[in-house]
Amino acid sequence: MIALLVVLLTLLAAPINGEESSKRPNVLIILADDVGTGDVPGYWGNESVEMVNLKNLQANGLTFHNCHSTPWCSPSRYELLSGNYPHRGNKAFSSWGFKEEANQFYNYQKSIAQVLKEEANYHTAMVGKWHLGLRAPGSFDNCEENLLTCNDMDWTKRIEDGPNDIGFDESFYTIHGIHNPPFSFIRNGYIETDPSNVTYWNAGSHTTSNGESIIATSGEGDINWDTTQFDQLLVKEANIFLDNHLEKRAEDPFFLYIALGELHKPHSPPDFYGDGTPIAGTQGHPQLDCLYEMDKNIGALISSLETKGLIEDTLIIFTSDNGGLKSSTKRPGRILRGMKGDIYEGGHRVPLVMRYDRMFPKGEVRNSHFVGLNDIYATIAEIAQVTIPDTSAQDSISFADYAMSNDNTSNMRKYLGVWNKAHSDEAILFKHFKYIRFHFPEQREELYNLKVDIGETNNLLESNPQKYSALRKKLKKKLRKIGLCPHDFTNKPVKLQDGKNKGKKVTCDWFKADPRRCKWQKVGELKCNSVCGRFRKYCQYFK
Ligand SMILES: *[C@@H]1O[C@H](CO)[C@@H](O)[C@H](O)[C@H]1NC(C)=O
Ligand SMILES: *[C@@H]1O[C@H](CO)[C@@H](O)[C@H](O)[C@H]1NC(C)=O
Ligand SMILES: *[C@@H]1O[C@H](CO)[C@@H](O)[C@H](O)[C@H]1NC(C)=O
Repeated sequence: MIALLVVLLTLLAAPINGEESSKRPNVLIILADDVGTGDVPGYWGNESVEMVNLKNLQANGLTFHNCHSTPWCSPSRYELLSGNYPHRGNKAFSSWGFKEEANQFYNYQKSIAQVLKEEANYHTAMVGKWHLGLRAPGSFDNCEENLLTCNDMDWTKRIEDGPNDIGFDESFYTIHGIHNPPFSFIRNGYIETDPSNVTYWNAGSHTTSNGESIIATSGEGDINWDTTQFDQLLVKEANIFLDNHLEKRAEDPFFLYIALGELHKPHSPPDFYGDGTPIAGTQGHPQLDCLYEMDKNIGALISSLETKGLIEDTLIIFTSDNGGLKSSTKRPGRILRGMKGDIYEGGHRVPLVMRYDRMFPKGEVRNSHFVGLNDIYATIAEIAQVTIPDTSAQDSISFADYAMSNDNTSNMRKYLGVWNKAHSDEAILFKHFKYIRFHFPEQREELYNLKVDIGETNNLLESNPQKYSALRKKLKKKLRKIGLCPHDFTNKPVKLQDGKNKGKKVTCDWFKADPRRCKWQKVGELKCNSVCGRFRKYCQYFK
């Protein structure tokens, strides 16, 4: 009966010709965890696992061969949701867990969810791994070991600074994904676990009726916690959101961000998928079993859009937070250097597949230009016809034109920065070149031509320093301008050149204490741009 009603409502809501092209799309982002380009089909011509659903998505959409994130989880998530480079947020290397006092977003930075919600009435939801900082409901200091039962915590209180505080109407998430305590879901800021059902989970394998649930790090959690069910539970929640959406807000578009636990460790595939398909032990390695399950989850989400009549109107984006794990390098198809955590391609080149039936061609590849996870914000905003507020998404450039055609690169960004941790090493992409600067343990520079050397084996600054000295200089300067400043790390004093404090020696902390100082001190912008760049609204010199 309800299903019939939904069909009727959908039919009634269907726009007549002409309105269709201007209709705002629904948006579904599926963010995988630790999935590199070598883990999935469509990149290096090799498949370790049969992934029919991802292939189907590719056949119906676009596969981007040159998409980049950061080599780490949290900064990449911030890039995706904020449209900013990581150091523009609250902390230079992002905010991760409960220890943080606030999440990574400054008040004046609106997430893509918030912009869609405020400007176009999107119904927004987040499901899965948060990892962008939360304000613990109490003093954290004495509670690290027993977060859920600690007397200093009041779990009846709403946990602030979570997804609902950056524009998500609804949320169902864990702070760290599948791997770290507390092993408990949080719904709209309230913990789901009842205090009487909290238990201490020891690291190791725990047999459940679904398979081997694995605890990676000991800690408190829900008595019913079962890692084998983590991702299917998220898909189930996503479906509940879609049903509610159709029931209550079918006239509005939705924005659904699902951040999967797959393929992060622990690799604990369920014995069977919900539809009865055997999973654990079928692909030769638990990690590959999880990859296989991830494909089933992608399939379940897409078929849910199909059965609900939403597929045509939904922009689907599949991507990952960073490159693959070390164990992936053993598999065929892994030809990139490095892995998750590295500044080499294996660390930050990620799969990106986009499908939008009303607009995008089907079954095409995008390989002529690079894009960043931070560009997805502006791309969605353009397709959804919303205006980006001035102080938001400052490092996001729409690639909607490029999505339409591989040759349509005239509006593309010229440079893309990549940061590994806050101050360890950084890189910049320009045309087919990649310049890397290592700061620690020692200063070092490298330059690669990715067009002929995707494996980053021939450092041009060593093999042909003269020829590339001008390019090196140019990219170093550019990277310096968009990135973090080593002064910010060493806190080496700089001499002020303007204003009433002229001649005074100050550290970057002086600017942090009052970012407005960036406005009158050119030296602040140049030497401490990780500070001033984050407060760019105050800066006049720094463009
Ligand atoms: C996978 O790659 C290896 C070499 O890296 C190649 O020998 C093999 O034929 C490839 N398999 C497929 C199915 O493409
Ligand atoms: C504790 O968990 C059990 C087992 O799942 C469940 O039946 C019970 O309702 C839970 N108790 C509370 C108070 O949530
Ligand atoms: C390329 O981009 C331009 C500018 O947005 C657009 O008008 C044009 O239709 C695009 N061309 C193709 C082939 O998609």
